Amino acid sequence: MLWTVTLLASTLTIAPREPALVPRPVESRFTGGTPFVVTDQTRLISDCAATKHLKAMFQKAAGFNLEGSGRKGTIVFRHKKDTARLRPDWYWLDVRPGQVLVEYSSESGAFYAVQTLRQLLPEQIESPKPVKGVTWSLPACSVSDGPRFGWRGMMLDVSRHFFPVSFIKRQLDTMALLKLNVFHWHLVDDGGWRIEIKKYPKLTSTGAWRVDTGEVWPGGEWNFGNIQICGDQAPKKYGGFYTQEDIKEIVRYAADRHITVVPEIELPGHSLGAVVSYPELKCLNVGPPAKPGQSLSNVYCAGNDAAITFLEDVLTETLALFPSKFVHIGADEVEKKHWRACPRCQARMKANGLKDENELQSWVVRHFDTFLSDRGRRLVGWDEILEGGLAPGATVMSWRGVQGGIDAAKQGRDVVMSPTSHCYFDYSYQAIPTQHVYAYDPVPAGLTPEQAARVLGGQYNVWAEWIATEARNEELQYPRALAMAEVLWSPKEGRKWSEFSPRMTSFLPRLDALGLNVHVSEPEVDATAVFFSGRTTVKAKGGGPGRTLRYTMDGSVPNGKSPVYRNGVTVTRPTTVTFAFVNKRGIAGPVSRVECRNPRNKDLGPLTPGLRADTYLLNGEPSRLPDLKTMKASGTSVTSVFDQAVRPRPAQFAVRWSGILRVPETGAYNFYLTSDDGSRLWLDDALVVDNDGPHGAVEKSGRAWLEKGDYRVDVRWYDQGGANSFKFEMAAPSRPKAPVPETWLFRTAGA
Ligand code: ACM
Ligand code: ZN
Repeated sequence: MLWTVTLLASTLTIAPREPALVPRPVESRFTGGTPFVVTDQTRLISDCAATKHLKAMFQKAAGFNLEGSGRKGTIVFRHKKDTARLRPDWYWLDVRPGQVLVEYSSESGAFYAVQTLRQLLPEQIESPKPVKGVTWSLPACSVSDGPRFGWRGMMLDVSRHFFPVSFIKRQLDTMALLKLNVFHWHLVDDGGWRIEIKKYPKLTSTGAWRVDTGEVWPGGEWNFGNIQICGDQAPKKYGGFYTQEDIKEIVRYAADRHITVVPEIELPGHSLGAVVSYPELKCLNVGPPAKPGQSLSNVYCAGNDAAITFLEDVLTETLALFPSKFVHIGADEVEKKHWRACPRCQARMKANGLKDENELQSWVVRHFDTFLSDRGRRLVGWDEILEGGLAPGATVMSWRGVQGGIDAAKQGRDVVMSPTSHCYFDYSYQAIPTQHVYAYDPVPAGLTPEQAARVLGGQYNVWAEWIATEARNEELQYPRALAMAEVLWSPKEGRKWSEFSPRMTSFLPRLDALGLNVHVSEPEVDATAVFFSGRTTVKAKGGGPGRTLRYTMDGSVPNGKSPVYRNGVTVTRPTTVTFAFVNKRGIAGPVSRVECRNPRNKDLGPLTPGLRADTYLLNGEPSRLPDLKTMKASGTSVTSVFDQAVRPRPAQFAVRWSGILRVPETGAYNFYLTSDDGSRLWLDDALVVDNDGPHGAVEKSGRAWLEKGDYRVDVRWYDQGGANSFKFEMAAPSRPKAPVPETWLFRTAGA
């Protein structure tokens, strides 16, 4: 990425010479010739509606709307004849001195050309109010472009946590920028019913609200094991819903951006919001609720004609709001045990010759497949709809891996790919890194060309059980959405992470300008702990455009006012240096901490070989290392090995090794903890390795700069049950990674 700095009159303008386009166009050539500069003299000559977005953009950010004389230059949009059938959604764009010429095959193609022009302009074009001193320069280029897939989607769960209309519009804007075109709106689930249905007002007066139990996780997320739908009369409540007017507004807003809104009305499971509002929709023989308001069943009774009629009524109102050809009916994770225990469901199975509950599920799905087909629509469902036989008109959304997609394509059915492995953006960046998303190919291996043609495309999903805030929601989407947009739009040929990664980084200031909260990685630091005498310099690096590396020395998270990092932070006394990349709005990404300490164990008295190992019995299944210092040990021994031998026999336990680590030379040491479940390592009171939390045997490492001498070492490990394992290794300046030598481990007198 090259940036040119141009001095014009007295204003300094920075325009990217070869702007970052995401998704990558099929073909683009930057000639390096004279750019086209858009001014208030520029005239737009257009035969399409999509260019209203171009005018609005300039009106907002530049204060003119392309209605100049045109003497110094024109932007021409014209329909290219006979292309719509051959190349739907395509555009051809040429930027030359004096003229920008766009030809397009369809309105959508013209809209995508507008998005490309937008990305060719400096990111200030995203500004909500006029900005001065920017040269609206379009680099000389020629682009020929159109999508690989027709379904380029994003699914948003608004049931588990509710997100307002303003949030949804902001995501639609960003989808448009990235040429995504399907907004799959997960409107109902166990967390609450979110769509107004006039015939059944209790769905939103009761079903959209839940008791605020106060039982939330550290990020403010709900414990979804304990949802109580309660109605809006309860004193403490969480919830919300979209009125039919809100929905019409969203659908219109999306259509204006060539985005189809596919509503999802989950059936026959994941429907707590509905069955608590109208309990007669439930199965018979469902036990009493464990808590007031709570339901033990979230499925509709498939044997109850009233439940089928209810769903038809709901779908009738839904169809009136959503013009989308496709309508999603969910059908994942249905708790069939309720059907097994229900005489009405069993009677339905008998009457229709259905051999098991999977076939009963298929019976329900077939019913709604016919219902939707009769009304000119097409049913989409999660891949469970394959079990018990696929309904004739159904399209399969493959989520439990890719097999559902493969099976459906082999049956000649349309599929949309959204496997958990690559497309679940509610998973952390550690679990699904952006690079991993970028490596995804929606066409599974092993399909014939005819079968591959059934893959309509794919989408990423944002499930919201663990997403309590708008900021977190956006952080999980961006920048992974950029990678997915490219996977779904751009040709597979020529796709290279090493090329995409810097282009993506260059794109981030545009997302900042749009006010989105974008995930950035934490700054790289040389060591997580530094033991020093006198003074030391702490260094950090990383980052990209639009991000400033800042730091604090008091343990707080940096903000827009914190000192800017230059060449290193000089430290003269024990402290914690906290680094983060901070965007222009003062919002910090994840932090890196460096604990700076003075060595202080000069006079420990006589030392004896071996560490002290204390063992603890735990109650329950803690999700973190308990505070062992406040607990009574069940046993104590002396050892110089860190392994499972010391562990007590019961399933839940913790071990703490404590004593002195003597390091023989000054330099950088790496420490490695592998544990199932959590473990942590401190030197003196500096946390060097943090591998806490319930998990399988994973390794985490930390790095400390140590002066030759003695350090209090404290290693703790816990296991909440099941498999357990533990390993502690270290690498010294002149010794490779290995278990800690016994001769380096001691304890003080009396320990
Ligand atoms: C799903 O994630 N249950 C479709
Ligand atoms: Zn039933």
